[in-house]
Amino acid sequence: MNIVNEINRLKKSRNAVIIAHNYQIPEIQDIADFVGDSLGLSQMAAKTEAEVIVFCGVHFMAETASIISPDKRVLIPDTDAGCSLADTINAAQLIKWKEENPGAVVVSYINTTAEVKAETDYCCTSSNAVKVVESIPLDKKILFLPDKFLGNYVKTVTGRDIVLWNGFCHVHEKIGELELDEAKKKYPEADVLIHPECGCSSSCMLKSVVYSDCKNLKIFSTEGMMTYTKESASDEFLIATEVGILHRLKKENPAKSFYPASENSVCEYMKMITMEKLYNSLLNDEFEVKVPEGIAAKARISIERMLSVS
Ligand code: 13P
Ligand code: SF4
Repeated sequence: MNIVNEINRLKKSRNAVIIAHNYQIPEIQDIADFVGDSLGLSQMAAKTEAEVIVFCGVHFMAETASIISPDKRVLIPDTDAGCSLADTINAAQLIKWKEENPGAVVVSYINTTAEVKAETDYCCTSSNAVKVVESIPLDKKILFLPDKFLGNYVKTVTGRDIVLWNGFCHVHEKIGELELDEAKKKYPEADVLIHPECGCSSSCMLKSVVYSDCKNLKIFSTEGMMTYTKESASDEFLIATEVGILHRLKKENPAKSFYPASENSVCEYMKMITMEKLYNSLLNDEFEVKVPEGIAAKARISIERMLSVS
């Protein structure tokens, strides 16, 4: 059996669309109809005319697609594909935090469960977090969750009254200043592109503003990295995020060179989606991700607010 042909055949017969995050394995990226970051994937889910969305990513992303498109069937090829960052806060913890901070506006990074989104005022992703916070009235205190590094970055850029949840991603947290300095020594000419979930993001951003030797350092979402590298005149880039994105970076920019800040930045949850599981998902109509309408209706408001400012 040629698995690529079979997946394409099933996709057609089921009127399905395959969407994949930038961290997916190369084979999955190559067979997907659309590859992107969390924001791009949620926008894609909102506008597709396909009846079935097969989401090659992690569970909260498939939940987001189900919230936005309740009439579509959303499938994830492996239900164990979770997210350590989303797991750092649940709805009960958020309700308690809100009670301790009456009147504060809640901004949640998209890496959260549907239940947490239902308790959220504004959702955001790494590509629009600053814009979302800037759209909130100046006199409002903001509770930002769950990622403390992204939150600190947004707090520094906007200068707003933001209280941070102490959450982080186990992959990005390890890309700290020391790791980055080592990599920079190896590739002194490369532009340095950093995902805001990285442990070094806040300090690196401050440095890039204050010290002139860090002018070639930029903070981007995964899709922001794709756009920047395409348009940039530089031909060497040091990439501080999950290594899965290197496949697309190299494929779409064959004349340029890309180096990972750390070869060990691998998200085991993202890598749980394989071609075999994708095939089984289409063949057996598994595994549906369906957010109950009571929760979805509340969560949708926070996502729609985000999409209206993006
Ligand atoms: P992006 O929205 O930048 O793709 O990031 C999602 C994510 O999970 C990063 O670890
Ligand atoms: Fe979650 Fe981190 Fe994996 Fe992104 S890289 S999906 S934040 S565990």
